[in-house]
Amino acid sequence: MIKESLPWEKIFAKAKYGHRPDIKSGIEASLQEGREFAEQGIASDNAHVLDLGCGNGRQLIGLVETGIGSYTGLDPIKKCIKFCNRQLGSRILNTRFVHLNVKNKMYNPKGKMLPDEVILPFDNDSFDSVITGSVFTHLGKRTVSERYLEEIARVLKSGGRLFSSWFRNPPYEISSEEYRTVFAECDIEKMLAKHFETYYSRGGSSGEWWDQWCLYSQLRQEG
Ligand SMILES: C[S@@+](CC[C@H](N)C(=O)[O-])C[C@H]1O[C@@H](n2cnc3c(N)ncnc32)[C@H](O)[C@@H]1O
Repeated sequence: MIKESLPWEKIFAKAKYGHRPDIKSGIEASLQEGREFAEQGIASDNAHVLDLGCGNGRQLIGLVETGIGSYTGLDPIKKCIKFCNRQLGSRILNTRFVHLNVKNKMYNPKGKMLPDEVILPFDNDSFDSVITGSVFTHLGKRTVSERYLEEIARVLKSGGRLFSSWFRNPPYEISSEEYRTVFAECDIEKMLAKHFETYYSRGGSSGEWWDQWCLYSQLRQEG
């Protein structure tokens, strides 16, 4: 098991690229998320976790403070992956960061892979849990989110769990912009229901700009 507590503020002060929320509140939010991930069965001593759209690895904090089996971060921003491998991957056991050269207007405009043809660079049944924090909020078209969910389902083990966060309508206006994607609530439910059963959700209805709908879902068992 990996269980680590590092000088997070010092480490994250060195991040220079990609999504960089206020350091103290980003760390506090991650610790809170880690506790929720444990309660909802995403994080546990032996869980192999994929953080899809990991950015600078902020969500790793809560996961490794709680305790997990292994951590893999994946992101289209090459400079974030370099930062993460140097500052986190080299210090924390069973932790690695992998570049995914997929196109995104906002985060990786020169990416080679088209997002609706994305292939996650992992074998089938590789992970117990996948987390995607503020990622479906940047995928634009519905076909892209559907493709991601299909790939996530492929790389998850039977009964594996997914954390995803979304902007939903209502309360926000539907939008297929990559800087802030909003889907109708019923479309999010339909997309997830193709592969997953959702067992817990919170947030996303206050109308506050930042408030995302956070969903915990489990891969449907075949047959
Ligand atoms: C708002 S940031 C969230 C980062 C991190 N999950 C967190 O909560 O701190 C969104 C992340 O999604 C990544 N991203 C954007 N488009 C993506 C795509 N098509 N596939 C995977 N990741 C993507 C971005 O590079 C960025 O790091």
